[in-house]
Amino acid sequence: MNKIKLIYEGKAKKVYETDDPTLAIFEYKDSLTAFNAQKKDTMQGKGRFTNLISATFLKLLQDKGIPTHFVKLIDDNHQLVKRLKIIPLEVVVRNTSTGSLCKRLGVEEGLDLVPPLVEFYLKNDELGDPLVTEDHIRAFCFASKPQVEKMKELSLKVNDILSKYLYERGIKLVDFKLEFGTDEEGNIYVADEISPDTCRFWDLSSKERLDKDRFRKDLGNVLEAYEEIWRRIGQPKAAI
Ligand code: C5P
Repeated sequence: MNKIKLIYEGKAKKVYETDDPTLAIFEYKDSLTAFNAQKKDTMQGKGRFTNLISATFLKLLQDKGIPTHFVKLIDDNHQLVKRLKIIPLEVVVRNTSTGSLCKRLGVEEGLDLVPPLVEFYLKNDELGDPLVTEDHIRAFCFASKPQVEKMKELSLKVNDILSKYLYERGIKLVDFKLEFGTDEEGNIYVADEISPDTCRFWDLSSKERLDKDRFRKDLGNVLEAYEEIWRRIGQPKAAI
């Protein structure tokens, strides 16, 4: 499968058309951005970790019956995925309070959220991805009611699968963001990536941050944290 034409370049990856119109190639870049790209940096080797980690999680989910866009790992920085129409919403699942939740509501960090919170954000860089309610989604047709129900159901299943998998590897899944897309028949798949760029991972015992918060908060050792996640979940590339 060859890259034919660049379709889209985002903050952390490039998406290419392939010779099969139903498939696309994701190329993970070494760039890191935060706060809606107001903070930027490049870290050599970062794209390799986000690609390998994301491929591992998507494959795991697929094996557990969650429809995802993942088709196969190509090499250290590339993966083959289904070409989908992206639903313009980001779904955030939170198991522990932190980040924008604490900022918005003034609540303490580190509170266990049982049951987990599911939030929807509108994908719109200019507006800084605002939080939206299900009524907003319905009123402005950002997604249909069955799509919202399905996204919620899948997000909570993803949370169960990944939380357990990571717990067994000494990692707490604090929160994460998912995106979804539809194929020609309207079937919904988990799309985009699942990596330390889009999740918060805390070491179970030390609470050390092993995700993009190291970059957001200038904690240092960003690449080392991504490498540590890969070390704990890593497997032979042939198994992904
Ligand atoms: O910043 P906030 O606390 O809302 O982030 C919640 C989770 O969603 C974090 O794991 C963060 O990495 C992820 N996120 C993301 N992309 C965004 C916003 C949040 O991956 N645009």
